[in-house]
Amino acid sequence: MYSVATLRIDELTAEERAVYATLKPGCLPQHVAIIMDGNGRWAGRRSLKRFLGHQQGAESVQLVTETASRIGLPWLTLYAFSLENNLRRPRAEVNFLMRLLKSYLESNLQRMMDNNVRMKYIGRTHDLPAEVQEKMRWAEEATAGNTGTTLTLALNYGGRSELVDAFRRLATEMKQKHQSAEQITEEDIHRHLYTAHMPDPDLLIRTSGEMRISNFLPWQIAYTEIFVTERLWPDFRGIHLLEAIADYQQRERRYGGLGEDCGDA
Ligand code: FPP
Repeated sequence: MYSVATLRIDELTAEERAVYATLKPGCLPQHVAIIMDGNGRWAGRRSLKRFLGHQQGAESVQLVTETASRIGLPWLTLYAFSLENNLRRPRAEVNFLMRLLKSYLESNLQRMMDNNVRMKYIGRTHDLPAEVQEKMRWAEEATAGNTGTTLTLALNYGGRSELVDAFRRLATEMKQKHQSAEQITEEDIHRHLYTAHMPDPDLLIRTSGEMRISNFLPWQIAYTEIFVTERLWPDFRGIHLLEAIADYQQRERRYGGLGEDCGDA
């Protein structure tokens, strides 16, 4: 069941309200996913250590989440830490990201509560350090009763490994039910994804200008509109989310058929 998010437009900044006023309220996306990229470049351009870019990026996470909650966006999914980041980044950076995640959850829980945000995670989170998992559970449980935006952090997430996990679970289920391969449907695969409880993203935003999907939600974005901005993630704010939504509302979604009114999509 989707969360029931309430509008808190009066809490937007004046600039955000001006962009929001141009949006068609009946055609807001239900689910926005973001590939947050450019923390390192943001730091590099200021001759700062990469770590400071990540720290500033964590502040963007909170500000964008709060704007999302004010406009009643039901689902916001952020690519916070990929399987590839975990395997390929220097240990010191991975350890820093883990500490940052823990302190982010600790210091922003009250703001999540104030904004009625529910926290969830996707990815092979069981492979993260135990104390990080503990903090994640704590934040998830504390916010479980919130009914506004569901903020999903993709952590130790890889799209192909999600599919492997889904196929493994599906194969086990089929064995138990003595089913044959011909009986597999798209719905069976969907049911076993980490995202089974959410609608597919309507809009995927990628910051810092790269034209790549980077193994993020490959099954779920089959019909998603993609918006790429040159802006680096630490500079991305709620107003930029609203601008991306305004751009999205200009698109005609066809789903392989003929155009539809967004109200019907
Ligand atoms: C890309 O920057 C970003 C990441 C590695 C993941 C996103 C992480 C954050 C926003 C920080 C913390 C998040 C939370 C939820 C606390 P990059 O290092 O790849 O940038 P570059 O491509 O410019 O080097």
